[in-house]
Amino acid sequence: MSYSPYLLKGQKALITGASSGIGEAIARYLAASGAAVVINYHSEAEEAQKIVDDIRNAKGEAIAIQADVSKENEVQAMFSQMLKEFGTIDILVNNAGLQKDSPFVEMSLNQWNTVIGVNLTGQFLCAREAGRKFLRRGVQPHISSAAGKIICISSVHEVIPWAGHVNYAASKGGINMLMRSIAQELAPHKIRVNSIAPGAIKTPINKSAWDTPQAEANLLTLIPSKRVGDVDDIAKAAVWLASDDSDYVNGTTLFVDGGMTLYPGFTANG
Ligand code: BGC
Repeated sequence: MSYSPYLLKGQKALITGASSGIGEAIARYLAASGAAVVINYHSEAEEAQKIVDDIRNAKGEAIAIQADVSKENEVQAMFSQMLKEFGTIDILVNNAGLQKDSPFVEMSLNQWNTVIGVNLTGQFLCAREAGRKFLRRGVQPHISSAAGKIICISSVHEVIPWAGHVNYAASKGGINMLMRSIAQELAPHKIRVNSIAPGAIKTPINKSAWDTPQAEANLLTLIPSKRVGDVDDIAKAAVWLASDDSDYVNGTTLFVDGGMTLYPGFTANG
């Protein structure tokens, strides 16, 4: 990690779903860039504590807070605890997300509701709490030129339809309009809201898509850069979007996908 420990100095960040995968990497990078971080987790208490310990051992600041982001009371309790421990919030990374895959006609209402609940409603609930706090506090020029930053972790599936995953693709499409509408509403208050849309990144959520040579070879046919992404690819983009280096970037989606959204099937076809 080659980040300046001063880039986000004095800033307080909450990363949801930070006990593994992309959320974990973002939390580690934000902490290495000087932010005090809340590692939100749902059920992996030990994993979350290990990340907290690692960050503290590297002289960073971190705490772990359990909450199911799809539950309003749990989100509000998490924010209260963060404000009690850290005093404020400057950066929210809306990362918690899951898949419950099923052929469309067999998809249960429970599979639909669980995915929409965590991936979309969870982002709404957390963004609303962060937005309220940003508005109350306003800009602190010695900390950041923004009153607050929200980064929504979306997916290439906010634009690429995905058979067998309609709940997931719908949640990510929803995040796009959620993010842009919040950005439009809060930009005059110096609040920046953006998304990162990862492509195929090696994490537990898609292990079966890359953990055998055959699966990886199939996946690479969808990726013009011919490399499955790494969590660090996403974390580096998150540090930039959280920092004042991206001060004029608002309401946009940054695709970090090795070109997956370039429709590589058309390279020698169509
Ligand atoms: C999904 C992964 C998938 C990737 C590319 C992500 O949003 O969570 O399972 O491999 O999109 O299709």
